[in-house]
Amino acid sequence: MTSDTPARSLATVPLVRPRRLRTSPAMRRLVSETRLHAAELVLPLFVKEGLAEPSPLGSMPGVVQHTLDSLAGAVREAADLGVGGVMLFGVPAVRDATGSQADDPDGILQRGLRVAAEAAGGRLVVMGDLCLDEFTDHGHCGVLSDIPARDGSPRVDNDATLVRYQAMALAQAEAGADVLGLSGMMDGQVAAVRDALDEAGYEDTAILAYTAKYASAFYGPFREAVDSALEGDRRTYQLDPANGREGLRETDVDLLEGADVVMVKPAGNLDVLAAVAARSDVPVAAYQVSGEYAMIEAAAANGWISRRPAIEESLTMIKRAGADIVLTYWATEVAGWLRASQEGR
Ligand code: PBG
Repeated sequence: MTSDTPARSLATVPLVRPRRLRTSPAMRRLVSETRLHAAELVLPLFVKEGLAEPSPLGSMPGVVQHTLDSLAGAVREAADLGVGGVMLFGVPAVRDATGSQADDPDGILQRGLRVAAEAAGGRLVVMGDLCLDEFTDHGHCGVLSDIPARDGSPRVDNDATLVRYQAMALAQAEAGADVLGLSGMMDGQVAAVRDALDEAGYEDTAILAYTAKYASAFYGPFREAVDSALEGDRRTYQLDPANGREGLRETDVDLLEGADVVMVKPAGNLDVLAAVAARSDVPVAAYQVSGEYAMIEAAAANGWISRRPAIEESLTMIKRAGADIVLTYWATEVAGWLRASQEGR
């Protein structure tokens, strides 16, 4: 050391050099804590009654309402690329107060489930959305009570709705659904559906419970996807985004009632997702919803963000927060990227 070499001090020499593990792509790949797999992705799909051609959704570029034919193709494509599952939503031609198409064996959702199960051929898990909102003329997730709320707005009758959910569960199980996605946020829905399934001999049909489902503005584009008739909002049954503890309470209740998988939705509630993952002894799912999809697509279309890295980063954050399963409209596309990158190695 010459006299003009400054002494090394704590101010100039880092004590620890975390950058060492970031020096090369190979090193970064080696130490990556979170990796995406096609098998953990679930693709939501919309099937619409009486449609002649698949119909693109303006607010969800790249997503369509399917015909029964195009649905089969989408399921096969997802299965070919190793996607873990599909979640089916039905859009009926006729709606009424009790959502009678929801449990009709020939209703569009049941027909879609049969087509999807056949196309999947056991290669991926077929799930059905179990909720009345697509089937009711008022667009609520349950049947309405004769007695409105004090302010005159419609009141969803919790316990009468459970009976409808039980009927839907049997119709979907009979049509070939492996998993039922209970998205209505009625109290007691998991226990009611579990009971009805077991009673009818469908004890192997699993329940994915939308456990912490928030009343979210980010469901906006989905409403177009299902031609929603909803007036008003769902705040008397879905959670207030201000509340985290309530999401954990719902988790405890759903686990107690026998949920096989619990879900947080929108996936962007990462704090709740992490807390649910720490608490749950069953797999935890997260739903990257229509608005979360649309935001990234819109920003990318405007050149404001880089599309593929943004999609990959968003899914990585959701996994890192604790999701074992991620529902995303990009499932098939991401599975394609994952396959291509494996082949490239
Ligand atoms: C209810 C249901 C909704 C979504 C999934 N299931 C709409 C709602 O609760 O208002 C939204 C999914 C999305 O926005 O991608 N059946």
